[in-house]
Amino acid sequence: MSSPSPITAPPHLLHLLSQLHQTSLEQEAAISKKGKVFSADVLGDLEDKSSASNPKDDFDRLMLDKFIALDEDKCQFTYQLINAMGATNVVEAGTSFGVSTIYLALAIARTKAATGKSGVVIATEKEKEKAAIARTYWAQCGPVVEQEIDLREGDLLETLKDGLPQVDLLLLDIWSALALPTLKTVLPRLRPGAVVLTDNTISGAAGYADLLAFLRAPENGFQNMTLPFTNGFEMSVYRPELTQ
Ligand SMILES: C[S@@+](CC[C@H](N)C(=O)[O-])C[C@H]1O[C@@H](n2cnc3c(N)ncnc32)[C@H](O)[C@@H]1O
Repeated sequence: MSSPSPITAPPHLLHLLSQLHQTSLEQEAAISKKGKVFSADVLGDLEDKSSASNPKDDFDRLMLDKFIALDEDKCQFTYQLINAMGATNVVEAGTSFGVSTIYLALAIARTKAATGKSGVVIATEKEKEKAAIARTYWAQCGPVVEQEIDLREGDLLETLKDGLPQVDLLLLDIWSALALPTLKTVLPRLRPGAVVLTDNTISGAAGYADLLAFLRAPENGFQNMTLPFTNGFEMSVYRPELTQ
C-alpha cells in the first residue's frame, strides 16, 4: 500500500506536481548512468572529456533545460517538517523550475494561516530562463503558491546577502561546491532551532565534504542526522546556544 500524501492542494496543482516530477526523473535518467544527477560527478565527467571549452560553462549549458527537482518524498517530508515547526520564513537555494518551491509555498501558506505570523519563501535562481519558467508554473498553481514566493534572480551569494528575515528553514538543493558558501551567507539569519536540509548527502558526500565537516564540527552548533531517503537527505538543527 502506498503511503498517503500529506499535501493539501487543489487537484490541478497535485497533477502538475506529479507531471513535473516525472519529467525531472526522465531527464536525469537520460543524462546520468546512476539515474540521478550529482553535480560533482557530472562536472567531473565533463572535466575528464578533452574539450577546449570551460567545463563549468558546459555544465551550466547542460543544466539550463533540466529540472533536477528534489525527489517527491523529500518534498513531502519538507512540507511536513515546515508544518511541524510552524516555519513561515524559508530560504531555498536553488530553485531551477521551482518544483520544491511549490511545496514550500503550500506549506508556509498553511503555517501562516495557523499561526497568524507573516512569512515568505525566498527562492533563488541564477539562470533567467529557468526563473521565467518557474514563474509560469507558479502562475498555473495560482495565488496560493504565487503570492508566497520572493524569487531573487542572480547569484545567490549576492541575492541572499541582504534582506533576509529570521530564517526558520534553509533548503540546500544546490550544486555541492556552493552549499557551504550558501550556508555561511544565510547563517547569521538562522534562528535558534532552525533546520538546514541538504539533498543527496550520502551519494554526494565527496562533493559535500567541506559542508559536512562544517555542519559536524561541534563548535558550529548543528545537530545532524542523515535521513534515510534515497541518496540521503541531511537534517541539521541549529542550536548555537548549546555549544556555549
Ligand atoms: C538542483 S537544482 C534546484 C532544484 C529545485 N530545488 C527543485 O526541486 O525544483 C539547482 C539550481 O541551482 C541553480 N544555481 C546554481 N548556481 C547558482 C547560484 N550561484 N545562484 C543561484 N542559483 C544557482 C541552478 O541553475 C539550478 O537550477
